[in-house]
Amino acid sequence: MKLMYSAVSKEFINSGVNIKCATTTQERIIKSIFSKKASNMLGFLDLPNMQKDEIEKYKTMGSEIRKKYKDMIVLGIGGSALGIKMLKNTFFDSINETPKCNVRVCDNIDSDTFITMLSKLNLKKTMFNVITKSGSTSETLAQMMIVLNRLKAKKLDISKHFVITTTKGNALYNFAVENNIPTCEIPESVGGRFSVLSAVGLLPASVMGIDIEKMLAGGRQGLSIASRLDEKNIPFTTAYINYQYLSKGRVNFVTMPYSDRLALVPEFFAQLWGESLGKKHNLKGEEVYAGQTPIKSLGVTDQHSQLQLYTEGVDDKIIMFMTVDKNAYDEVISEEIAITKHLTGTSLKTLLDYEYISTAYSLAEVNRPSYTISLPCICEESIGELIVFMEMMTAFMGSMLKVDAFDQPGVELSKIYTKGCLKMKGYEKYGENIRKFKKVSSKFSL
Ligand code: PA5
Repeated sequence: MKLMYSAVSKEFINSGVNIKCATTTQERIIKSIFSKKASNMLGFLDLPNMQKDEIEKYKTMGSEIRKKYKDMIVLGIGGSALGIKMLKNTFFDSINETPKCNVRVCDNIDSDTFITMLSKLNLKKTMFNVITKSGSTSETLAQMMIVLNRLKAKKLDISKHFVITTTKGNALYNFAVENNIPTCEIPESVGGRFSVLSAVGLLPASVMGIDIEKMLAGGRQGLSIASRLDEKNIPFTTAYINYQYLSKGRVNFVTMPYSDRLALVPEFFAQLWGESLGKKHNLKGEEVYAGQTPIKSLGVTDQHSQLQLYTEGVDDKIIMFMTVDKNAYDEVISEEIAITKHLTGTSLKTLLDYEYISTAYSLAEVNRPSYTISLPCICEESIGELIVFMEMMTAFMGSMLKVDAFDQPGVELSKIYTKGCLKMKGYEKYGENIRKFKKVSSKFSL
């Protein structure tokens, strides 16, 4: 992985920042994160170095599921879903491939989608992987209960159609043990959005046939870069660039890969960046209302849509481009059918590269900052490294902003009100607030 940062440098654009960040701050932040003093939720740092027997477990389960089942349906949401969706798009959907066992992620509970999807499955040939760290997320449990009913109606053995990925000892884990359902463990110290390199992402990846050992090797490479104490520490440098620009009022952060295979990376990263950094309080408990709004974009598609806003609209953004040096497939535009001469002899990938550099330059020319992360190619190693890059960049930015990057009180709030609506014991007063809100809302509807 490389970082190209000319379009944030003072030599190149008026609003440039100084990236000479190999300072005592850098050393302090890196040491407090890698020594795990910064938080007790830094277990994700250990995942790329996980024990061989744990890797073997996911490989064996993966190949057995692949052999026996046509579909694996993941029931999970947020950090229990987005990484898997990203991996599937990167290695299969975007290049029009379908894994032997088709992994599908059902994160949303829109009944139109979920019920129609379920009705089309051959349940005898389907494995359901319930992924929830807390074991108590209403959306995931609701989906699971619907599936349980359907399996029972067909007299299918639930222990052969479920695997449960959760934290040891919670009620869902105990349900799995009582019903002989195989389990995979999410360590307590690994937060949902930082869990893709745990069982959460590794089992589905293995089922799809992705080489998880190579992906973890890429993760180790990412960790080694992230522990450097100089500006070659790419996640620290990019976090620092964002931190500098945020303090100058750039409150929006666009991620724009020039690759369909990376098209879901901005979605995965948006959760990391948004949920980790969007905080009302800092670590001292003072009100800070921190954060930078992540915006999901795709090159070249959004050149014909959002780019107008990025180039001439409100000047409050910083852009992170992502490029791939070498595509797996390409074709040169033949000279035989010359509808327009300037395209002939150029390959489609070369045109994509020209479009990216022209976009980066045209933004820099009007002093709109950007930087570029480039991958040599798309493979398990480079994706493992990219995942750790995004996790580390988020953790470093959290330290710079002095917020807890590993909790999500704002997400919990809406979960509490939903439980109130469902009249769950202990949540009655929250339900009452919602009823009042609905009553008032009816007065203000047209
Ligand atoms: O990052 C997080 O912690 C959240 O996005 C969770 O992943 C999400 O809320 C789902 O939680 P759980 O895995 O407990 O079902």
